[in-house]
Amino acid sequence: MLSYQHIYHAGNFADVHKHAILVELLKALKAKNPKLAVLDTHAGRGTYDLRSEEAQKTSEYTSGAQHFWENDGLPEGLKEIVSGFNPEGDLNIWPGSSMIARKILRPGDKLTCIERHPGEFAELQKTMSDAHGVDLQQKDGFQSIVDFSPPPLRKGLVIIDPSYEIKTEYVQTAKQVHLAWKKWSQGVFLIWYPLLEAQGHVQLLTHLRKSEVKDVLVSEVRLDKAPTEGYRMFGSGIAIVNPPWPINVLDDLTNHIADRMPQKAHSDVYWLDNQPINPETGTI
Ligand SMILES: C[S@@+](CC[C@H](N)C(=O)[O-])C[C@H]1O[C@@H](n2cnc3c(N)ncnc32)[C@H](O)[C@@H]1O
Repeated sequence: MLSYQHIYHAGNFADVHKHAILVELLKALKAKNPKLAVLDTHAGRGTYDLRSEEAQKTSEYTSGAQHFWENDGLPEGLKEIVSGFNPEGDLNIWPGSSMIARKILRPGDKLTCIERHPGEFAELQKTMSDAHGVDLQQKDGFQSIVDFSPPPLRKGLVIIDPSYEIKTEYVQTAKQVHLAWKKWSQGVFLIWYPLLEAQGHVQLLTHLRKSEVKDVLVSEVRLDKAPTEGYRMFGSGIAIVNPPWPINVLDDLTNHIADRMPQKAHSDVYWLDNQPINPETGTI
């Protein structure tokens, strides 16, 4: 059994990056399509209590969500949703990807949330107990990427946010997206990945770059140094297949986040399609 639980990491700077982009992506897709089908392949538990023992133990949210909240730095769309969960003004609850999707989608849209961990799935069921029409399934999220594609409406988004606890998940993610893309080349896929010393994300991006998948826009926020000692993640990355906006929209959003980080951070936004393959390493 895998041990990753997102409550230890909820609201960290990567969540701010990931969830800010998710909000804008869902809004843009909603504006373009009267009906959407959304799949969240690694849904987590829906909402995270930042006062919990687990969140307090790592306190990762202090250099992410809390810093942005206290300095009024969250982009407007995400701020509005987070405010709804924290009406008193103090930041206690951080909404995760599945809850954000639930809040943004309309009654006619379809949301499917996959979570494999039994404990997390039980929490997700509780969080979504009053959410009619949201389909919750306890199974493998990687396989669901292919099974879901294409949805009957052919308009929608797949949110892929694995824990990458197993190193092969980087390539597995790219392979599943490629297989899904072959069935649904207009599908929009959001893939989150961490930037770690081991550089697992290079395998993910290289695999995608060498595949037939086209129109992949990447947003990365890189820190000059870790927020706290022993913190292994120095950056957060998101690859979007078939983004609904031109590159400057994602550039502005990524800069907004990098500029407001508590420590020096850089933003990088680029088309994966234009990245050269290094002939010596065979990677991007
Ligand atoms: C990074 S967290 C997701 C956080 C969530 N997207 C959010 O924003 O709140 C990864 C989640 O994937 C779950 N998980 C791990 N392996 C899985 C698999 N093969 N299929 C589905 N879920 C999995 C973990 O239990 C964990 O809840």
